[in-house]
Amino acid sequence: MVFAHANWRKPTLRTLDRPSIFLAGALSALLILWVFFFLSTPFQPTTCSCTRPDPAFNLQFDPPVSTFYDDPSFGYTLDTRITNYDFKRQTWLKLHPSFQPKSGTRVLIVTGTRSTPCKSRTGDHFLLRFYRNKVDYCRIHGYDIFYNNVLLDPKMPSCWAKIPTVRAAMVAHPEAEWIWWLDEDAAFTDMEFKIPFEKYKDYNFIVHGWPREVYERKSWLGLNAGSFLIRNCQWSLDFLDSWADMGPRSANFGKWAGVLSDVFRHESDDQTALGYLLLKDHQKWFGKKMLIETGYYLEGYWVSIVDTLKNITERYLEIETTAAMLRRRHAEKVSERYGVLREPSLKDAGNEFGSWRRPFVTHFAGCQPCNGKHNPLFTGEGCRDAMNKALNFADNQVLRNYGFVHRNLSDTSGVSPLPFDYPV
Ligand SMILES: *[C@@H]1O[C@H](CO)[C@@H](O)[C@H](O)[C@H]1NC(C)=O
Ligand SMILES: *[C@@H]1O[C@H](CO)[C@@H](O)[C@H](O)[C@H]1NC(C)=O
Repeated sequence: MVFAHANWRKPTLRTLDRPSIFLAGALSALLILWVFFFLSTPFQPTTCSCTRPDPAFNLQFDPPVSTFYDDPSFGYTLDTRITNYDFKRQTWLKLHPSFQPKSGTRVLIVTGTRSTPCKSRTGDHFLLRFYRNKVDYCRIHGYDIFYNNVLLDPKMPSCWAKIPTVRAAMVAHPEAEWIWWLDEDAAFTDMEFKIPFEKYKDYNFIVHGWPREVYERKSWLGLNAGSFLIRNCQWSLDFLDSWADMGPRSANFGKWAGVLSDVFRHESDDQTALGYLLLKDHQKWFGKKMLIETGYYLEGYWVSIVDTLKNITERYLEIETTAAMLRRRHAEKVSERYGVLREPSLKDAGNEFGSWRRPFVTHFAGCQPCNGKHNPLFTGEGCRDAMNKALNFADNQVLRNYGFVHRNLSDTSGVSPLPFDYPV
């Protein structure tokens, strides 16, 4: 430490005279009064409500008043049609007022895997790390998460299994406005980015893709069903019914398979079916509520992402060497604040392909980490290297708040402690 004056002497308690002790006492009394006043006065937010703490949820309160859960005809499976759900959900919320604040924006992430061990030797380890990555994101942003590993509808196996899972999660969580499905092999690679939900007030279903590829070229690869947002409402229940009607549980499965192969020149799977629903209803009631997001990687293909991670790491470190606030150590709970502070430095970063912004979600489509049956375009080794890099890239953003870093993105085990004021 450098003092301004060479003769400056740090005062010790012994050199303090009586009046200063008195003054110190008076000051602390004032401070205590001020703190007391501060705590007992309700916050008066002026420009935003961000200083108002979320009232704690009342987790032990469920009044003995009938709700849709008490109706014997209500069910969690696709066989049991639900009607008038928006009213039913609102009624539940009125009866559980502690969940009402933020019930218009609350998010539940839903993901899942098969119920049996992975065939690939490293499969379960990767799935655990992919899941940990999602839990990290949820902890940082206050989202809930449901990890399903049973087949809820035996007639909806493999890629179709997400439909009955999302439906059950929706009615199990009337307090959540959005259900966000994420495949087991998708990872958050920007722990700070937040979905711009305010953009979606007129939409009920959001998926990442390229509208021209879906609507004009009719390509089943024009979108990816590995990550989508669906609003918890009657529209969505009806939409899931239509989507499921194209799946193997339905008597119409064969008919739809023919249609999909004619229109999209691809076999029937959840993604082709989704592409068809988007196309068919583009201008109608269903379609108008569905959006193909092009502005950020709600889902990003790993092949175009993984090689950019090293440069992105360096760009972010460069920004941090000039922005002291971004280097400031902080509690993990207030991480969102630093995401907001970083945003102005990223205004020229672009988004998606060719961008140096951290990609939001990186999806290892075609790698099949669990069964190991990767697309012949890739090697198992190439997939594992890429997954390690992406997961460690994400882990670095989390570990930063615990004081550590993987210096080498390919080294999953090795971390170094971070010095104060890193990276200066
Ligand atoms: C990373 O940055 C270097 C130096 O600017 C550049 O030569 C290289 O092409 C970049 N790599 C990628 C994958 O963008
Ligand atoms: C990074 O880690 C990998 C895996 O442990 C190792 O093979 C590689 O040599 C390391 N690279 C550097 C530059 O240390």
